[in-house]
Amino acid sequence: MTHSSKITPMNNGPLIVDSPPNLSGAAPAELDGKEKVALCRCGASANKPFCDGAHAKAGFESAPDHSKIRNAPLDYSGEVSGVAVTISYTPVLCTHAARCQAKAAAVFDPKKRPWIQPENGTLESIADVIAACPSGALRVSFGEQTAQHMTTGDIAIEVEKNGPYHVSNIPLDAEFNGAGASRAKYSLCRCGLSKNKPFCDGSHYDAKWTDDGAGAAD
Ligand code: SF4
Ligand code: FES
Repeated sequence: MTHSSKITPMNNGPLIVDSPPNLSGAAPAELDGKEKVALCRCGASANKPFCDGAHAKAGFESAPDHSKIRNAPLDYSGEVSGVAVTISYTPVLCTHAARCQAKAAAVFDPKKRPWIQPENGTLESIADVIAACPSGALRVSFGEQTAQHMTTGDIAIEVEKNGPYHVSNIPLDAEFNGAGASRAKYSLCRCGLSKNKPFCDGSHYDAKWTDDGAGAAD
């Protein structure tokens, strides 16, 4: 029954998921057949990833603060096998999952400048990394093609340990913010600290937020 899945962020409250798919990742859960579930996004639930009502006591506020975020994409170009390749990176959408670095360290290395060097990869490896980026922070254009996220048709919610929800192909009832943000794959804040709510902006990483922490509503 996942065809009618939908996610609705409640004001100062949880994410309501209609017809949820099974959860995968750090907190797998069989949800197929359930009408709806509420997922924690304040970081304070004692029953993560599900909401236990802790947001009210924690005084969780879900309004984003876009004045504090850098939204412009950064472009990195190079020639790969005779093809002009441009990788676009939107910092505010990056969750710091580092899947790019794990898959192709020669191309994506935060310790180098520039941190993305397309010419060190192959066309296949670059396409593979862009597809694996869960947040939509990365897009690629090969030759004259327009920039793309390399998405699949899977419907999924993956819970990252000490990190966000990675969502694929579920309609989200929210305004999208972030240059090139994708409706087919995006990452939702689970710690309560993002300035780009409901989206993850990597703040959990900077704050060293953990699932077993006392909670981190701002
Ligand atoms: S979200 Fe994408 S760009 Fe950011 S670290 Fe992960 S794979 Fe790399
Ligand atoms: S889970 Fe990444 S900013 Fe909250």
